Amino acid sequence: MIHLKLDYAKVKSFVTDHEINAFQQDLVKAHQDLINKSGKGNDFLGWVNLPSEIDDELLNSIENDAQAIRGMAELYVVIGIGGSYLGARAVIEALNHNFAALKKDNKYPLVIYAGQNISEDYMHDLLEILEQKDYALCVISKSGTTTEPAVAFRILKNHLEKKYGKLNAEKRIIAITDKSRGALKKLADDEGYKTYVVPDDVGGRYSVLTPVGLLPIAVAGFDIRKLAEGAKNMQLHLAQSTTLPDNVALQYAAVRNALYNKGKTIEIMVNYMPNLYYITEWWKQLYGESEGKENKGIFPAGVGFTTDLHSMGQYIQEGIRNIFETTLSIEKPHHYIEVPSDKENLDGLNFIAGKRISEVNKMAELGTSIAHVDGGVPNIKISLPEINEFNLGELIYFYEFACGISAYLINVNPFDQPGVEAYKNNMFALLGKPGFEKETEEIKKRL
Ligand code: PA5
Repeated sequence: MIHLKLDYAKVKSFVTDHEINAFQQDLVKAHQDLINKSGKGNDFLGWVNLPSEIDDELLNSIENDAQAIRGMAELYVVIGIGGSYLGARAVIEALNHNFAALKKDNKYPLVIYAGQNISEDYMHDLLEILEQKDYALCVISKSGTTTEPAVAFRILKNHLEKKYGKLNAEKRIIAITDKSRGALKKLADDEGYKTYVVPDDVGGRYSVLTPVGLLPIAVAGFDIRKLAEGAKNMQLHLAQSTTLPDNVALQYAAVRNALYNKGKTIEIMVNYMPNLYYITEWWKQLYGESEGKENKGIFPAGVGFTTDLHSMGQYIQEGIRNIFETTLSIEKPHHYIEVPSDKENLDGLNFIAGKRISEVNKMAELGTSIAHVDGGVPNIKISLPEINEFNLGELIYFYEFACGISAYLINVNPFDQPGVEAYKNNMFALLGKPGFEKETEEIKKRL
């Protein structure tokens, strides 16, 4: 039994069962290609069996390191970008107190991030905070050569060494990178940092269940064993069946592609809880980098309701009709607050007095999905009973598996990202990187 549920009743006025079921044969092939590692990009399918293969020794080691870090740091700075950043942040922010940064009684270090941008002001402000707090660093880069985290690590390593002395600084740094290649691996070996490995056959955006995600999540105080258990539960479920009615990942992949074939080229992931913001960001990266290639792929977008109903709601209701929505719906909040009654009732809201805020939120969700369907926006609903480690583990694996299937349905390699190189090459040419002389000359003519 899985906890996650998928409901696509609200797409039925846009695509027929026949159009969805038409994918059945391709789904069987895509499923086999993932499980048997026989499809495009099959060097990067290590994530498929990851949940059932995570070994206890690795989890023990991560938990021990997390405990040591807790003893020495109020802040844990995680340096990384893309798949080396978003998964950890998605899980931590989903599970954390909404105002964790302002809480005085935090038992665990606050995880903060660097190397996910090249903003000088961001770095300045971060350094200012790090002057005042005890901290430790986790630098994550599979390739070990990505510019953004490498720049951030240069600066933060210097700061850490100045603050604690070189020897003590070394004990405050953990590097997560390739097992043998790359500049970060070499640096970590030279300096004697503790390292964890990103497995060769797991790409960045599929790496949450490796130390890339697990170490920061454990430092933040969350149960990585439960997360892995949830993912394993979903893995076993999805491996079992290749028939549409029995496999939620196949259903999600088929429905979104049936909609895509009908001109719905944008998928908006919707949540009704702000702490799911980074789950959407992680999902956007997973689907955008996996599918958007060869002039194909659904464009993944995200909104947080009801907040964005007051900004993007107008467009979604009445703009160009090329979008569909997928709502990540959480059945039960962790806390209980009622709308109070008011003697004056000036705002006219006494009709909801005594109702839980979550009930109001639920009615907003239901009312919105019906309005959007009426406005020409099909709705898929993914629901979880509540936010906890186990359910997030299920959700992560579900999204990953469905993404692999969906990319195979449009016949692209889900595990590469050749398009990411274009901006890097121009940036290097503009910055005068040795070896880029010709490109520098060319690009300067275009300025
Ligand atoms: O999903 C991916 O592979 C990418 O988003 C990478 O994670 C990202 O580019 C960072 O790469 P690296 O870990 O090599 O620094």
